[in-house]
Amino acid sequence: MARARVTVVGAGFVGAATAQRIVEKNLADVVLTDIVEGMPQGKALDIMESAPVEGFDAKISGTNDYKDTAGSDVIVITAGLARKPGMTREDLISKNAAIVSDVVDQVIKYSPQSILVIVSNPLDIMTYLAQKRSGFPQRRVFGMAGVLDSARMAYFIAEELKVKPSEVNAVVLGGHGDLMVPVPRFCTVRGKSITEQIPPARLEAINQRTRDGGAEIVKLLKTGSAYYAPSSSVVKMLEAILNDRKTALPVCAYLNGEYGLKDVYCGVPVILGRSGVIQIVELALNEKEKEALHASVAGVKKSCRELDSLMKQTA
Ligand code: LAC
Repeated sequence: MARARVTVVGAGFVGAATAQRIVEKNLADVVLTDIVEGMPQGKALDIMESAPVEGFDAKISGTNDYKDTAGSDVIVITAGLARKPGMTREDLISKNAAIVSDVVDQVIKYSPQSILVIVSNPLDIMTYLAQKRSGFPQRRVFGMAGVLDSARMAYFIAEELKVKPSEVNAVVLGGHGDLMVPVPRFCTVRGKSITEQIPPARLEAINQRTRDGGAEIVKLLKTGSAYYAPSSSVVKMLEAILNDRKTALPVCAYLNGEYGLKDVYCGVPVILGRSGVIQIVELALNEKEKEALHASVAGVKKSCRELDSLMKQTA
């Protein structure tokens, strides 16, 4: 069987790290594209030259021409500006909306049957935009944030309880912003909820550090934002898609009544497979958790309305 083909748009840190992880796992052949001349070609060649050492057979090529992305199974969109210290993800809306709109127009021309995985920030709003712009079915357009946010929380829990990160299962719902909703009741270590293992004050500190997870890295790096954990998270989703795993993963998905939310994209667990989002998994949230989720999504909806009027002005 021919290897799958994944296009990664944006050869910055997130895009290049994603491309590297994909080929190192032999998951797919990769087309890395960027508007900067030479950069995707240079990074692709550099990664290919590691193939004899790493022992992978998957291929990666770099290009500035969308024609070369034709026939991709999945398009990962990382293009756009990253946050600087002190910025919220929402501060990026207008600039990244223009970039993502242009990228979507180009990629769907050459890969009309593809799945779009959005990584650009503000994540939920860019995912909403990509779906509207592409006209693709909602199940084929979704965003990466939940895997990342839950991975961060899982790491903080592992540190707290002095267990291996792989022993932790964490759940974070809602928008990928300051109001995201860590749900400790559903986070488990060795099958037991962490609410039985971590005192409330420590739990709240972990929740807050999770919400601030992206900003903590931005502040340390000073230029640019996180890319190691974000690229791992994208590749986890790609494995579920390309291998038709049908496992539950938290992704930024379109809700049509689930969780009492309609016509909005936000982070929820879904069953992910070769056709995209197969099903939304509805967790039995209590009133407080539901309230927090609705508050987070209200913020996303507000930003989407801002985006709609922005797009009308520039149309
Ligand atoms: C983060 C950015 C990528 O959470 O949103 O690190």
